[in-house]
Amino acid sequence: MSQNPSSSTIDRQGFVKIVMTFLGTIMGAVIGLPFINYFISPSLKGEANEDWIALGALENYPIGEPTLFNFTKTKVNGWEKTSHSYGVFVLREAGGKVTAYSNVCTHLSCRVNWQEEHKQYHCPCHDAAFDIHGNVLSGPPPRPLDEYQTKIEEGNLYIHLLEG
Ligand code: FES
Repeated sequence: MSQNPSSSTIDRQGFVKIVMTFLGTIMGAVIGLPFINYFISPSLKGEANEDWIALGALENYPIGEPTLFNFTKTKVNGWEKTSHSYGVFVLREAGGKVTAYSNVCTHLSCRVNWQEEHKQYHCPCHDAAFDIHGNVLSGPPPRPLDEYQTKIEEGNLYIHLLEG
């Protein structure tokens, strides 16, 4: 029995071609997948929309006087990075109760100020007033100032930031 030399050569060439294609595909995947992962993964990552924000030692907040704490939070959504500034009025009361109010007016989102002489939060945009617990006293705001959930751990105050 004699073998056909040309068919054996074609088989060998075909085998080498298949092996080279296979190796090329593996090498392409090894090199390419990290790049694909780099570009796609940010858009696939879930974003935690809630956080506890540390506002420092509770003893630093005077009793009976709303004290403003400002902070900035950076949010990464895919390739987009946005920073948002927040203002929180912390009210520490004599009985140990601690509340934290947003300084954003519930009318059109201007920032309110605490006026110690009037014992009120004042919104300069449309001359609204809120009492020390954020309840509307006058002006167009439709509801009280937003209140954050608070917790105290090892003497430090935290607020729960929930973003929509
Ligand atoms: S934005 Fe505060 S009263 Fe209008």
